[in-house]
Amino acid sequence: MGEIIRLEHVSKKFGGLVAVDDFSGEIETGSIVGLIGPNGAGKTTLFNMMSCTYPPTSGKIFYKGVDVTKARTDTMAARGLARTFQVTKPFGDMTVVENFMVGAFLHTKDRATARKQAEEIYDYIGMSCGRDKPANETTTVDRKKLEIGRALATKPELLLLDEVMAGCNPQEKLELVETCRKIQKCGITLVVIEHDIKTIMTLCEKIVILHRGAKLTEGTPEQVANDPRAISAYLGEDYHAGC
Ligand SMILES: Nc1ncnc2c1ncn2[C@@H]1O[C@H](COP(=O)(O)OP(=O)(O)OP(=O)(O)O)[C@@H](O)[C@H]1O
Ligand SMILES: [Mg+2]
Repeated sequence: MGEIIRLEHVSKKFGGLVAVDDFSGEIETGSIVGLIGPNGAGKTTLFNMMSCTYPPTSGKIFYKGVDVTKARTDTMAARGLARTFQVTKPFGDMTVVENFMVGAFLHTKDRATARKQAEEIYDYIGMSCGRDKPANETTTVDRKKLEIGRALATKPELLLLDEVMAGCNPQEKLELVETCRKIQKCGITLVVIEHDIKTIMTLCEKIVILHRGAKLTEGTPEQVANDPRAISAYLGEDYHAGC
């Protein structure tokens, strides 16, 4: 199927701090990839560059074969890249469906069409709070689904999920794993940042470990779980023994 996004020797410096250090890699179209690593490893920074929130200090990014290193976020959204934020930022006073409509307005100016699409997303994503619940009154798991739904409403081809499972209990995490699988089945490529190793290993076909801004290793969950560098720097002996 080929790659949907490719990063070539991408680095990001904030003053003297190297947040991402010479990262190269690509994401296969239609795949679901896990991006893991300790706090401060540079995962969100990598998402910010992939979505063109800011450009890399050096290196190049190609999306669907086009150099987007200096593109704008709205251009990327229009070309089919959507992301969620580690700290959720819903429009709190607006209802769930109205939040989805904001995403739908990327492709239509017609209110009725946007509402119809937003209601379809509500049904698709399996929320239980009610369409007209104000966003700031939803539970943690529904808040996460709301984030995902808002991104889906923009009709993405590549969806970047930044810790959507954080703060959820094991049952809720399972629900979100199913949501991700359902999204992948619709042909959308996913990159998922997550600290719960077991969950990410279950969900993803490929895992990339970031450590101090650089790629430590990548491969199938099994390959990564047995990689001595990954075990000593991040996963730990306990995880390895539990596999
Ligand atoms: N806008 C910024 N200005 C200055 N430093 C930043 C900025 N954004 C990130 N950093 C720093 O870059 C490094 C990588 O941060 P980043 O948020 O990408 O890590 P992360 O892997 O997402 O961590 P976490 O798992 O805690 O979310 C950290 O040291 C962070 O403090
Ligand atoms: Mg982060």
